[in-house]
Amino acid sequence: MAARKLLLLPGDGIGPEAMAEVRKIIAYMNAELNSDFSLEEGLVGGCAYDVHGKAISEADMAKALAADAVLFGAVGGPEWDSVPYDVRPEAGLLRLRKDMELFANLRPAICYPALADSSSLKKEIVEGLDILIVRELTGGVYFGEPKEIRDLGNGQKRGIDTQVYDTYEIERISGVAFELARTRGNKVTSMEKRNVMKSGVLWNEVVTATHKTKYPDVKLEHMLADAGGMQLVRWPKQFDVIVTDNLFGDMLSDIAAMLTGSLGMLPSASLGAPDAKTGKRKALYEPVHGSAPDIAGTGAANPIAMIASFAMCLRYSFNMVAEADRLEAAVAGVLEDGLRTGDIMSEGKTKVGTVEMGDAILAKFQALA
Ligand code: NAI
Ligand code: MG
Repeated sequence: MAARKLLLLPGDGIGPEAMAEVRKIIAYMNAELNSDFSLEEGLVGGCAYDVHGKAISEADMAKALAADAVLFGAVGGPEWDSVPYDVRPEAGLLRLRKDMELFANLRPAICYPALADSSSLKKEIVEGLDILIVRELTGGVYFGEPKEIRDLGNGQKRGIDTQVYDTYEIERISGVAFELARTRGNKVTSMEKRNVMKSGVLWNEVVTATHKTKYPDVKLEHMLADAGGMQLVRWPKQFDVIVTDNLFGDMLSDIAAMLTGSLGMLPSASLGAPDAKTGKRKALYEPVHGSAPDIAGTGAANPIAMIASFAMCLRYSFNMVAEADRLEAAVAGVLEDGLRTGDIMSEGKTKVGTVEMGDAILAKFQALA
């Protein structure tokens, strides 16, 4: 088999610290499991700006487009707060999303049993929770035109953002949701606001038609997005896969994430369209958290979000389902053993740093082989 091409973009702050723990897992998989990952490295964010004067170089962009998957750490930090807007660290991530056409953002909300007590919700509400939010990432109100602040000439200004969705955009994002549902609980809940938004009416129609023609075996339900927000907090276990637009998805995925844990625990994936020849999707995997300048360099960062992002990469880019399951089980296992980084520390548990946590997860992963 051809090598599996991974591009690592560790970025700034705690990005490289968390990525180092993933690198150990990859090294083990190559050495002991014949996984055949070939690694390339690049710069993104502030560290790229320092070298190239922009947040990602053309050469690294080309590597990202050629890779089977990109692992992204985090970007940004106070030292780049005053760089020009177009080349600020976040511009690197936006460029990757745009050029790789990563239209589907996957945000799982999984409740690790060992952390069920630390949720802000009651234990019985979140224990065993395993849902996946599929957020449309390249359309909607964040990108629709016109987008401006218009001077009305009478002392008033008008701020304008435009929600726009075309049929193909709704078809492809709902297709991803239905396909993923088939590998999980076989249920999709589509959320929009068709009661007040035309784009919501179209969204509902296209999801319904896509379901009928291509995925009739999957259970589909529709929910107004505001009611969906309530249901996520009231009874989240009713959901399997939720599919929604860019704006609602931004909020609903953050709500869902906080049902279960700390920022240091949360992975994500962003997928593009399947290649016409190979059927492979372009993909980027990254933790939800940022570069955490307040703890960068102290060895305190929780590497779990980054490691869990790699587990998603195994699952979605390489169909290495057994390995992905095993890596997720290893994370659950070290939490059961009572190991905690500072961000998830609670009474009676064992506080560890980034490297110790990474080592423990790798050891567990090996032991579960
Ligand atoms: P942040 O996610 O970096 O940190 C928020 C808080 O959570 C901090 O107290 C941090 O120490 C803690 N935290 C985050 N990840 C952690 C981990 N793995 N382990 C332990 N604690 C963790 O968000 P913040 O502070 O708003 O932004 C810091 C910088 O990161 C900014 O420059 C921002 O622009 C950038 N950022 C980058 C993102 C990305 O690369 N995708 C996403 C969000 C922010
Ligand atoms: Mg957000």
